[in-house]
Amino acid sequence: MKELKLIFVGFGIVGQGCAKHLIRTRQYLKEKFGLSYQVVAVTDTVKGSIQNNDQGIDLPKALQLAQQGRKLEGLGGKVGLTSIETIKTTNADIMIEATWTNLKDGEPGLSHIITALENEMDVVTSNKGPIALAFRKLLALAKSRERHLRFESTVMSGTPVFNLHEFGLTSAKVTSLKGILNGTTNYILTEMAAGKSYDDALKRARELGYAEADPSGDVDAYDPAAKITILANALMGADVKYADVAREGISGLTIDDIRKAAQDSKRIKLIASASKAENDELEASVRPTLLPDTEILAHVTGVMNALQISTDVQPDVTIMGPGAGGDSAGYGLFNDILAIHRMRIR
Ligand SMILES: NC(=O)c1ccc[n+]([C@@H]2O[C@H](COP(=O)([O-])OP(=O)(O)OC[C@H]3O[C@@H](n4cnc5c(N)ncnc54)[C@H](OP(=O)(O)O)[C@@H]3O)[C@@H](O)[C@H]2O)c1
Repeated sequence: MKELKLIFVGFGIVGQGCAKHLIRTRQYLKEKFGLSYQVVAVTDTVKGSIQNNDQGIDLPKALQLAQQGRKLEGLGGKVGLTSIETIKTTNADIMIEATWTNLKDGEPGLSHIITALENEMDVVTSNKGPIALAFRKLLALAKSRERHLRFESTVMSGTPVFNLHEFGLTSAKVTSLKGILNGTTNYILTEMAAGKSYDDALKRARELGYAEADPSGDVDAYDPAAKITILANALMGADVKYADVAREGISGLTIDDIRKAAQDSKRIKLIASASKAENDELEASVRPTLLPDTEILAHVTGVMNALQISTDVQPDVTIMGPGAGGDSAGYGLFNDILAIHRMRIR
């Protein structure tokens, strides 16, 4: 039985979510897929860095310490390395990259991924920054090194978009994409449709932990712009630049706009889309859009996400599911690890 060696880079909510799924399924993975694994390093800015290439690291213990907000360094092995030093000196087969999303230059995730690929590791990541900003470059590097690069949870968290496309829409040409890719703004719009003002809906989203103290990544649509960039490039073979996505957020919407839409049997949703224009160029955008009540996406409420994939074979395939949450995003990483294992044993 092959033992996969794993390294966690970034052990916050999502890294820990992935650890939970690995722990939960240890026996199942052995029985069903002949897969056993050993975690050989965990590196995180606050929780510290540990590496044990020979003995491995006790993952349940590491998870417990992280959940208690304690340092991991008492677990044994080499401590104190930087994230890059840890990646360069590990004997892991797969890096699980779950550091913060930086849509300015992709760091530190971009350097983590490049270093891992250059050191002959496969990579799974939930980090939108490197994939939105440097997809072509990273894909070329992965190909040249004959490595896998998977990023299921960068879009719609653990709801399987890329795995659905790869395994369920084989050979189909994607002609357009249209979706609700940001749960926070969809929650705010749902609350406004129920009568709340924008400010009150945003306040409630903050209280529930859906919106950050600075909500601009969501309400100004930077987050869904990154996601539609990733989708267009990965599913449509495009070369869309994140900075070129036409972007309009929801902060200018008033309760009157929402009411007027309802009077016309329509709803306003923040729609991210990508399709070919008449000149054959791919256009990607995120903007508040009036949808007739008859459209499926008009009925996606709360923090739910949904994506319609149109292809030449199957006209409209719609997938809906959670778009955030550590356990959900961790599940996307977990499924990517499993997908790599299945490809390795073919
Ligand atoms: N949470 C979700 O629902 C969700 C869903 C889908 C995708 N994602 C993406 O998944 C990634 C992780 O999200 P999260 O919610 O787990 O964030 P998080 O809880 O803030 O975890 C990120 C972790 O990475 C650590 N880190 C930062 N820089 C590092 C470095 N150079 N080396 C090693 N560790 C480093 C952070 O430490 P410090 O705290 O000390 O900086 C933190 O512990 C993000 O890119 C996010 O956009 C999140």
